Amino acid sequence: MFLSYLDNNATTPIAPEVAEVMQPYFHQLFGNPSSSHVKGTELGDAIEHARRHVALFLGANTDEVTFTSGGSESNNHVLKGVFLDRKQFLGGHLVISCFEHPAISQPAAYLESLGIEVTRVGCNAMGMVEPEQVKKSLRPDTRLVSIMHANNEIGAIQSIAEITELCHQRDILVHTDAAQSLGKVRVDVRELGVDFLTLAGHKIYAPKGVGALYIRSGVHLESLIHGASHESGVRAGTENTPYWIGLGEACRILSEADSQHIEELKAKRDLLFKRLSEAIPGLTVNGMYDDPAIDSARRLPNTLSVNFPRVIGGELLDATPSVCASTGAACHSGETRMSDTLTGIGLQPDVAQGTVRLSVGRTTTIEEVERGAADLIATWTALVTGNPVGDG
Ligand SMILES: Cc1ncc(COP(=O)(O)O)c(C=O)c1O
Repeated sequence: MFLSYLDNNATTPIAPEVAEVMQPYFHQLFGNPSSSHVKGTELGDAIEHARRHVALFLGANTDEVTFTSGGSESNNHVLKGVFLDRKQFLGGHLVISCFEHPAISQPAAYLESLGIEVTRVGCNAMGMVEPEQVKKSLRPDTRLVSIMHANNEIGAIQSIAEITELCHQRDILVHTDAAQSLGKVRVDVRELGVDFLTLAGHKIYAPKGVGALYIRSGVHLESLIHGASHESGVRAGTENTPYWIGLGEACRILSEADSQHIEELKAKRDLLFKRLSEAIPGLTVNGMYDDPAIDSARRLPNTLSVNFPRVIGGELLDATPSVCASTGAACHSGETRMSDTLTGIGLQPDVAQGTVRLSVGRTTTIEEVERGAADLIATWTALVTGNPVGDG
Protein backbone atom coordinates (compact mmCIF):
# COMPACT_ATOMS: atom_id res chain seq x y z
CA MET A 1 0.00 0.00 0.00
CA PHE A 2 1.26 3.47 -0.84
CA LEU A 3 1.58 5.38 2.45
CA SER A 4 1.33 9.13 2.93
CA TYR A 5 3.30 9.91 6.07
CA LEU A 6 1.76 13.19 7.21
CA ASP A 7 2.73 13.05 10.87
CA ASN A 8 6.13 14.75 11.01
CA ASN A 9 5.25 16.58 14.23
CA ALA A 10 5.06 13.15 15.87
CA THR A 11 8.45 12.11 14.54
CA THR A 12 10.69 12.39 11.50
CA PRO A 13 12.77 9.76 9.68
CA ILE A 14 16.50 9.76 10.42
CA ALA A 15 18.34 11.61 7.66
CA PRO A 16 20.64 9.23 5.69
CA GLU A 17 23.68 11.47 6.40
CA VAL A 18 22.88 11.25 10.12
CA ALA A 19 22.61 7.44 10.07
CA GLU A 20 25.90 7.31 8.16
CA VAL A 21 27.99 9.46 10.52
CA MET A 22 26.71 7.44 13.49
CA GLN A 23 27.82 4.05 12.15
CA PRO A 24 31.53 3.99 13.15
CA TYR A 25 30.58 4.82 16.73
CA PHE A 26 28.63 1.58 17.10
CA HIS A 27 31.55 -0.56 15.94
CA GLN A 28 35.21 0.47 15.79
CA LEU A 29 34.82 3.73 17.78
CA PHE A 30 32.90 2.12 20.64
CA GLY A 31 35.12 3.28 23.50
CA ASN A 32 34.16 5.14 26.62
CA PRO A 33 35.15 8.79 26.05
CA SER A 34 36.30 8.98 29.70
CA SER A 35 38.85 6.17 29.28
CA SER A 36 42.48 7.28 29.13
CA HIS A 37 43.52 4.36 26.90
CA VAL A 38 43.41 4.37 23.14
CA LYS A 39 39.74 3.30 22.80
CA GLY A 40 38.78 6.41 24.74
CA THR A 41 41.29 8.85 23.34
CA GLU A 42 40.70 7.80 19.71
CA LEU A 43 37.28 9.44 19.96
CA GLY A 44 39.20 12.70 20.03
CA ASP A 45 36.93 15.68 20.16
CA ALA A 46 34.10 14.04 18.18
CA ILE A 47 31.55 14.82 20.87
CA GLU A 48 32.72 18.42 21.18
CA HIS A 49 32.50 18.74 17.40
CA ALA A 50 28.88 17.54 17.55
CA ARG A 51 28.17 19.90 20.44
CA ARG A 52 29.53 22.76 18.33
CA HIS A 53 27.02 21.95 15.58
CA VAL A 54 24.14 21.90 18.07
CA ALA A 55 25.33 25.20 19.56
CA LEU A 56 25.64 26.84 16.12
CA PHE A 57 22.14 25.66 15.24
CA LEU A 58 20.73 27.29 18.38
CA GLY A 59 22.89 30.44 18.25
CA ALA A 60 24.48 29.38 21.56
CA ASN A 61 28.01 28.92 22.86
CA THR A 62 29.32 25.37 22.94
CA ASP A 63 29.50 25.30 26.74
CA GLU A 64 25.81 26.19 26.93
CA VAL A 65 24.71 22.89 25.35
CA THR A 66 24.10 19.71 27.37
CA PHE A 67 23.21 16.49 25.59
CA THR A 68 20.17 14.64 26.97
CA SER A 69 18.01 11.64 26.12
CA GLY A 70 15.40 13.82 24.42
CA GLY A 71 12.75 16.46 24.84
CA SER A 72 11.14 14.84 27.88
CA GLU A 73 14.38 14.73 29.82
CA SER A 74 15.32 18.31 28.88
CA ASN A 75 11.93 19.57 30.04
CA ASN A 76 11.97 17.55 33.27
CA HIS A 77 15.50 18.73 33.98
CA VAL A 78 14.52 22.38 33.81
CA LEU A 79 11.37 22.18 35.91
CA LYS A 80 12.78 19.85 38.56
CA GLY A 81 16.24 21.40 38.43
CA VAL A 82 14.85 24.84 39.24
CA PHE A 83 12.44 23.79 41.98
CA LEU A 84 14.48 20.96 43.55
CA ASP A 85 17.63 23.10 43.69
CA ARG A 86 19.51 22.20 46.88
CA LYS A 87 20.06 25.90 47.72
CA GLN A 88 16.43 26.84 47.32
CA PHE A 89 14.56 23.58 47.72
CA LEU A 90 10.89 23.65 46.69
CA GLY A 91 8.73 26.71 47.37
CA GLY A 92 7.76 29.39 44.92
CA HIS A 93 5.58 29.59 41.89
CA LEU A 94 5.73 28.17 38.36
CA VAL A 95 3.95 29.53 35.28
CA ILE A 96 3.24 27.35 32.25
CA SER A 97 0.70 27.60 29.42
CA CYS A 98 -2.58 25.70 29.32
CA PHE A 99 -1.39 23.54 26.41
CA GLU A 100 2.13 22.41 27.18
CA HIS A 101 3.23 18.96 26.03
CA PRO A 102 2.87 16.34 28.80
CA ALA A 103 6.67 16.51 29.17
CA ILE A 104 6.01 19.91 30.80
CA SER A 105 2.47 19.59 32.15
CA GLN A 106 3.25 16.36 34.01
CA PRO A 107 6.45 17.48 35.79
CA ALA A 108 4.51 20.66 36.64
CA ALA A 109 1.71 18.54 38.15
CA TYR A 110 4.32 16.53 40.04
CA LEU A 111 5.87 19.70 41.49
CA GLU A 112 2.36 20.87 42.36
CA SER A 113 1.85 17.66 44.34
CA LEU A 114 4.98 18.61 46.31
CA GLY A 115 3.55 22.02 47.17
CA ILE A 116 4.75 24.26 44.31
CA GLU A 117 2.02 26.57 43.10
CA VAL A 118 1.43 26.39 39.36
CA THR A 119 -0.44 28.86 37.17
CA ARG A 120 -1.57 27.70 33.73
CA VAL A 121 -2.00 30.69 31.44
CA GLY A 122 -4.70 30.42 28.78
CA CYS A 123 -4.38 31.23 25.10
CA ASN A 124 -6.56 33.13 22.64
CA ALA A 125 -8.62 31.57 19.84
CA MET A 126 -5.53 31.48 17.60
CA GLY A 127 -3.54 29.54 20.18
CA MET A 128 -1.43 32.51 21.26
CA VAL A 129 -0.42 32.94 24.88
CA GLU A 130 -0.62 36.69 25.27
CA PRO A 131 2.42 38.21 27.02
CA GLU A 132 0.04 40.49 28.94
CA GLN A 133 -1.64 37.40 30.43
CA VAL A 134 1.73 35.98 31.41
CA LYS A 135 2.58 39.32 33.03
CA LYS A 136 -0.64 39.21 35.05
CA SER A 137 0.20 35.72 36.32
CA LEU A 138 3.63 36.70 37.70
CA ARG A 139 4.08 36.96 41.45
CA PRO A 140 6.96 38.03 43.68
CA ASP A 141 7.75 34.34 44.30
CA THR A 142 7.57 33.22 40.63
CA ARG A 143 10.79 31.36 39.87
CA LEU A 144 10.21 30.01 36.38
CA VAL A 145 8.02 30.59 33.34
CA SER A 146 7.92 27.77 30.79
CA ILE A 147 5.99 28.33 27.57
CA MET A 148 6.47 26.17 24.48
CA HIS A 149 7.91 27.97 21.44
CA ALA A 150 5.48 26.46 18.94
CA ASN A 151 2.42 24.42 19.72
CA ASN A 152 2.67 20.83 18.53
CA GLU A 153 -0.97 20.52 17.45
CA ILE A 154 -1.93 23.73 15.68
CA GLY A 155 1.53 25.25 15.18
CA ALA A 156 0.92 28.58 16.94
CA ILE A 157 4.30 30.32 17.41
CA GLN A 158 4.52 32.11 20.74
CA SER A 159 5.98 35.55 21.49
CA ILE A 160 8.81 34.14 23.58
CA ALA A 161 11.16 37.15 23.26
CA GLU A 162 8.46 39.44 24.62
CA ILE A 163 7.64 37.03 27.45
CA THR A 164 11.33 36.68 28.33
CA GLU A 165 11.80 40.42 28.49
CA LEU A 166 8.99 40.98 30.94
CA CYS A 167 10.11 38.02 33.09
CA HIS A 168 13.74 39.13 33.17
CA GLN A 169 12.66 42.58 34.36
CA ARG A 170 11.50 40.69 37.46
CA ASP A 171 14.50 38.29 37.65
CA ILE A 172 12.34 35.32 36.68
CA LEU A 173 13.92 32.48 34.69
CA VAL A 174 12.39 31.52 31.33
CA HIS A 175 12.35 28.16 29.57
CA THR A 176 10.93 27.34 26.18
CA ASP A 177 10.26 23.89 24.74
CA ALA A 178 11.35 24.35 21.14
CA ALA A 179 10.93 20.68 20.16
CA GLN A 180 8.40 21.62 17.48
CA SER A 181 9.81 24.89 16.18
CA LEU A 182 13.43 23.88 15.57
CA GLY A 183 14.08 23.25 11.91
CA LYS A 184 10.77 24.83 10.91
CA VAL A 185 11.31 28.46 11.87
CA ARG A 186 14.34 30.49 12.90
CA VAL A 187 15.27 29.71 16.50
CA ASP A 188 18.08 31.69 18.09
CA VAL A 189 18.53 31.58 21.85
CA ARG A 190 20.00 35.09 21.97
CA GLU A 191 17.04 36.55 20.07
CA LEU A 192 14.60 34.70 22.31
CA GLY A 193 16.65 35.70 25.36
CA VAL A 194 15.64 32.54 27.24
CA ASP A 195 17.59 30.89 30.05
CA PHE A 196 16.75 27.33 28.97
CA LEU A 197 15.64 25.77 25.69
CA THR A 198 14.66 22.19 24.84
CA LEU A 199 15.59 20.35 21.64
CA ALA A 200 14.27 16.87 20.73
CA GLY A 201 16.36 14.96 18.18
CA HIS A 202 13.64 12.88 16.58
CA LYS A 203 11.73 15.97 15.43
CA ILE A 204 14.74 17.12 13.38
CA TYR A 205 15.77 13.95 11.52
CA ALA A 206 18.03 12.58 14.27
CA PRO A 207 17.20 9.39 16.22
CA LYS A 208 14.67 9.04 18.99
CA GLY A 209 16.16 9.02 22.48
CA VAL A 210 18.50 11.97 22.04
CA GLY A 211 18.11 15.68 22.61
CA ALA A 212 19.77 18.70 24.09
CA LEU A 213 19.22 21.36 26.67
CA TYR A 214 20.47 24.91 26.28
CA ILE A 215 21.39 26.43 29.64
CA ARG A 216 22.37 30.10 29.38
CA SER A 217 25.90 30.78 30.54
CA GLY A 218 25.99 31.79 34.22
CA VAL A 219 22.59 30.25 35.03
CA HIS A 220 22.80 27.46 37.61
CA LEU A 221 20.64 24.37 37.14
CA GLU A 222 20.57 21.50 39.64
CA SER A 223 21.30 18.08 38.12
CA LEU A 224 18.42 15.80 37.35
CA ILE A 225 20.68 12.74 37.03
CA HIS A 226 23.37 12.84 39.70
CA GLY A 227 26.46 10.72 39.23
CA ALA A 228 29.86 11.11 37.64
CA SER A 229 31.03 14.42 36.21
CA HIS A 230 29.88 13.93 32.61
CA GLU A 231 28.55 16.96 30.77
CA SER A 232 30.44 19.33 33.10
CA GLY A 233 28.61 17.87 36.07
CA VAL A 234 25.20 18.89 34.74
CA ARG A 235 24.05 15.44 33.62
CA ALA A 236 25.67 12.19 34.68
CA GLY A 237 25.84 9.14 32.43
CA THR A 238 28.37 7.73 29.98
CA GLU A 239 28.12 9.64 26.75
CA ASN A 240 25.74 8.19 24.15
CA THR A 241 28.40 8.83 21.52
CA PRO A 242 26.67 7.59 18.33
CA TYR A 243 23.44 9.43 19.08
CA TRP A 244 25.14 12.65 20.07
CA ILE A 245 27.24 12.55 16.91
CA GLY A 246 24.01 11.96 14.97
CA LEU A 247 22.30 14.90 16.63
CA GLY A 248 25.26 17.12 15.76
CA GLU A 249 24.98 16.10 12.12
CA ALA A 250 21.21 16.71 12.05
CA CYS A 251 21.83 20.20 13.43
CA ARG A 252 24.62 20.82 10.92
CA ILE A 253 22.31 19.90 8.03
CA LEU A 254 19.56 22.23 9.24
CA SER A 255 21.99 25.08 10.02
CA GLU A 256 23.37 24.87 6.50
CA ALA A 257 19.96 24.60 4.79
CA ASP A 258 18.86 27.90 3.31
CA SER A 259 15.42 29.36 3.92
CA GLN A 260 14.21 27.56 0.78
CA HIS A 261 13.55 24.41 2.80
CA ILE A 262 11.05 26.30 4.95
CA GLU A 263 9.32 27.58 1.79
CA GLU A 264 9.14 23.99 0.58
CA LEU A 265 7.49 22.83 3.79
CA LYS A 266 4.97 25.62 3.47
CA ALA A 267 4.27 24.85 -0.20
CA LYS A 268 3.51 21.19 0.63
CA ARG A 269 1.35 22.13 3.61
CA ASP A 270 -0.55 24.72 1.56
CA LEU A 271 -1.11 22.26 -1.28
CA LEU A 272 -2.62 19.81 1.21
CA PHE A 273 -4.94 22.52 2.50
CA LYS A 274 -5.90 23.58 -1.03
CA ARG A 275 -6.86 20.05 -2.06
CA LEU A 276 -8.87 19.41 1.12
CA SER A 277 -10.65 22.75 1.24
CA GLU A 278 -11.61 22.61 -2.46
CA ALA A 279 -13.31 19.24 -1.96
CA ILE A 280 -14.77 19.48 1.54
CA PRO A 281 -17.29 22.25 2.17
CA GLY A 282 -17.14 23.55 5.74
CA LEU A 283 -13.57 22.37 6.41
CA THR A 284 -11.90 24.76 8.87
CA VAL A 285 -8.32 25.21 10.04
CA ASN A 286 -7.27 25.84 13.61
CA GLY A 287 -4.99 28.80 14.23
CA MET A 288 -4.83 30.03 10.60
CA TYR A 289 -4.74 33.82 10.01
CA ASP A 290 -6.43 35.43 6.99
CA ASP A 291 -3.38 37.61 6.34
CA PRO A 292 -0.69 35.36 4.78
CA ALA A 293 2.16 37.48 6.21
CA ILE A 294 0.81 37.18 9.74
CA ASP A 295 0.07 33.50 9.18
CA SER A 296 3.68 32.88 8.11
CA ALA A 297 4.99 34.64 11.20
CA ARG A 298 2.65 33.01 13.70
CA ARG A 299 2.03 29.46 12.47
CA LEU A 300 4.51 26.66 11.79
CA PRO A 301 4.96 26.26 8.02
CA ASN A 302 4.47 22.49 8.10
CA THR A 303 1.42 22.12 10.34
CA LEU A 304 -2.24 21.86 9.33
CA SER A 305 -4.79 21.22 12.04
CA VAL A 306 -8.07 20.78 10.18
CA ASN A 307 -11.60 20.16 11.37
CA PHE A 308 -13.41 17.74 9.07
CA PRO A 309 -17.15 18.46 9.31
CA ARG A 310 -19.69 15.76 10.18
CA VAL A 311 -17.17 13.00 10.93
CA ILE A 312 -15.05 11.84 13.84
CA GLY A 313 -11.35 12.40 13.17
CA GLY A 314 -10.33 9.03 14.64
CA GLU A 315 -12.88 7.18 12.51
CA LEU A 316 -11.77 9.08 9.40
CA LEU A 317 -8.15 8.07 9.98
CA ASP A 318 -9.05 4.47 10.90
CA ALA A 319 -10.90 4.23 7.60
CA THR A 320 -7.92 5.74 5.73
CA PRO A 321 -5.01 3.42 6.57
CA SER A 322 -2.95 4.87 3.71
CA VAL A 323 -2.61 8.16 5.63
CA CYS A 324 -0.51 8.48 8.79
CA ALA A 325 -1.73 11.47 10.83
CA SER A 326 -2.95 12.33 14.36
CA THR A 327 -6.26 13.33 15.88
CA GLY A 328 -6.82 16.13 18.37
CA ALA A 329 -9.74 14.68 20.27
CA ALA A 330 -10.71 11.22 21.41
CA CYS A 331 -14.31 10.09 21.41
CA HIS A 332 -15.40 7.60 24.06
CA SER A 333 -18.99 6.45 24.59
CA GLY A 334 -20.34 9.38 22.61
CA GLU A 335 -18.31 11.92 24.61
CA THR A 336 -15.55 13.98 23.05
CA ARG A 337 -12.39 14.38 25.14
CA MET A 338 -10.46 17.24 23.63
CA SER A 339 -6.75 17.91 23.83
CA ASP A 340 -5.61 20.82 26.02
CA THR A 341 -4.85 22.80 22.87
CA LEU A 342 -8.28 22.41 21.31
CA THR A 343 -9.88 23.19 24.67
CA GLY A 344 -7.57 26.20 25.06
CA ILE A 345 -8.59 27.75 21.74
CA GLY A 346 -12.24 27.28 22.65
CA LEU A 347 -13.17 24.81 19.93
CA GLN A 348 -16.65 23.36 20.37
CA PRO A 349 -16.69 19.57 20.96
CA ASP A 350 -18.78 18.92 17.83
CA VAL A 351 -16.09 20.66 15.73
CA ALA A 352 -13.14 19.21 17.69
CA GLN A 353 -14.33 15.65 17.17
CA GLY A 354 -13.43 16.04 13.47
CA THR A 355 -9.95 17.47 14.08
CA VAL A 356 -7.00 15.88 12.33
CA ARG A 357 -3.41 17.12 12.58
CA LEU A 358 -1.49 16.80 9.33
CA SER A 359 2.20 17.71 9.39
CA VAL A 360 4.63 17.57 6.48
CA GLY A 361 8.41 17.30 6.65
CA ARG A 362 11.55 17.62 4.55
CA THR A 363 11.06 14.13 3.12
CA THR A 364 7.34 14.48 2.32
CA THR A 365 6.81 14.16 -1.42
CA ILE A 366 4.19 15.89 -3.56
CA GLU A 367 2.84 12.42 -4.35
CA GLU A 368 2.30 11.78 -0.63
CA VAL A 369 0.45 15.08 -0.37
CA GLU A 370 -1.70 14.51 -3.47
CA ARG A 371 -2.54 10.89 -2.71
CA GLY A 372 -2.99 11.54 1.00
CA ALA A 373 -5.43 14.38 0.30
CA ALA A 374 -7.30 12.30 -2.29
CA ASP A 375 -7.63 9.35 0.10
CA LEU A 376 -8.88 11.54 2.97
CA ILE A 377 -11.40 13.20 0.66
CA ALA A 378 -12.63 9.82 -0.61
CA THR A 379 -13.06 8.47 2.94
CA TRP A 380 -14.74 11.65 4.16
CA THR A 381 -17.18 11.52 1.23
CA ALA A 382 -17.93 7.87 1.89
CA LEU A 383 -18.54 8.53 5.60
CA VAL A 384 -20.89 11.47 5.07
CA THR A 385 -22.82 9.95 2.17
CA GLY A 386 -22.89 6.44 3.59
CA ASN A 387 -21.48 5.07 0.34
CA PRO A 388 -18.39 2.86 0.67
CA VAL A 389 -15.18 4.26 -0.90
CA GLY A 390 -15.05 3.36 -4.60
CA ASP A 391 -18.82 3.36 -5.11
CA GLY A 392 -18.71 6.20 -7.58
C1 LIG B 1 6.54 19.96 22.18
C2 LIG B 1 7.18 18.67 22.59
N1 LIG B 1 7.94 18.63 23.68
C3 LIG B 1 8.54 17.50 24.09
C4 LIG B 1 8.38 16.33 23.40
C5 LIG B 1 9.02 15.08 23.93
O1 LIG B 1 10.23 14.81 23.29
P1 LIG B 1 10.86 13.33 23.36
O2 LIG B 1 9.93 12.45 22.61
O3 LIG B 1 12.21 13.49 22.69
O4 LIG B 1 10.99 12.96 24.78
C6 LIG B 1 7.61 16.32 22.24
C7 LIG B 1 7.41 15.07 21.47
O5 LIG B 1 6.33 14.70 21.07
C8 LIG B 1 6.99 17.53 21.82
O6 LIG B 1 6.21 17.57 20.75
